[in-house]
Amino acid sequence: MKGLILSGGSGSRLRPITFTNAKQLIPVANKPILFRVIENIRDAGITEIGIVIGNTGQQIRDAVGRGGRWGVNITYIEQDQPLGLAHAVKISQDFLGDERFVMFLGDNVIEGGISPLIAQFETSEWNSQIVLTRIEDPRQYGVAELGDDGRIVRLVEKPKEPPSDLALVGIYMFDHHIFEATNAITPSWRGELEITDAIQWLIENGHTVHPYVHRGWWIDTGKREDMLEANDLVLEEIDYYVEGYVDRDSQVGRRVRVQRGAEIINSVVRGPSIIGEDARIVNSYVGPFTSIGHNVVIENSEIEHSMVLENSRIHNIGARIQDSLIGRNVTINRSPIKPKAHKMTLGDNSQVGIL
Ligand code: G1P
Repeated sequence: MKGLILSGGSGSRLRPITFTNAKQLIPVANKPILFRVIENIRDAGITEIGIVIGNTGQQIRDAVGRGGRWGVNITYIEQDQPLGLAHAVKISQDFLGDERFVMFLGDNVIEGGISPLIAQFETSEWNSQIVLTRIEDPRQYGVAELGDDGRIVRLVEKPKEPPSDLALVGIYMFDHHIFEATNAITPSWRGELEITDAIQWLIENGHTVHPYVHRGWWIDTGKREDMLEANDLVLEEIDYYVEGYVDRDSQVGRRVRVQRGAEIINSVVRGPSIIGEDARIVNSYVGPFTSIGHNVVIENSEIEHSMVLENSRIHNIGARIQDSLIGRNVTINRSPIKPKAHKMTLGDNSQVGIL
């Protein structure tokens, strides 16, 4: 089997972070989401992986390279315009050939990986397998209606009135019949070739599509809150160990990973949380569900339930920072120069909540 990861997409709902970063490269618990996706596919025994890239292609190439680090071969497939998931499959036909494949959206995070699912599909007679999960309000997803016999009756993309609470997770398995489907369908109201329509076409044309209902968590990291939630969930799954230095005046909880070169001085760190490589936490409090990125400095400050990306600095902030997503190379400081005021340089689409 082969793997296909979709990593185009502009991440507009995550601006300003995505003005400078591909959203699939935003680290969750200090590891880019895309790397977690590659590992999920590799762990299922797949070594030939195609990545569909768009505007942020160069960044993705620079970060992922040829895949040697994971023991896989990466092929890049360029999608000139974001014309839909089914369009991405269509342009990947040369790479995929006649092999069965798994397609994984590069911004999705799922509990427990996908190895059993792939093993099941590989040896089955099914033409496709889709992954569904129950969601309270599935209106912004593809939605499946299942019959009493558990088979799929129909699939609809972003329905105003969902026929069920079963949303399509961004993980799909196909055989070569999907190319007939992607050639047969026409663009939706949003101008995209929808993978949901292609799968509906398979069903209508007598092909077998098996629905698998996933019971663990799944996050599509579209918005800041999703990113923080994915971070919470992944922080509960990582291994905890201390590779950095913790001084005698600090208290570091049991569920904390302190990465290589990090230093914790006279501080309290509660888990689950992660402190990145060469980060420095000095006279500070880092609360549960926090990812402190590589080379970040937190001094005389308090932070909890937040993500701070690489090379940022937080100094002398007495009020606790919470529920925040802070990008790379950001400085947050107390300003001693009069007048006493909040002084900021914020990128377009920034959001700041002040007490
Ligand atoms: C896409 C699919 C949708 C699926 C979702 C999962 O939506 O079209 O069916 O439920 O991914 O993340 P999009 O991200 O294009 O809005």
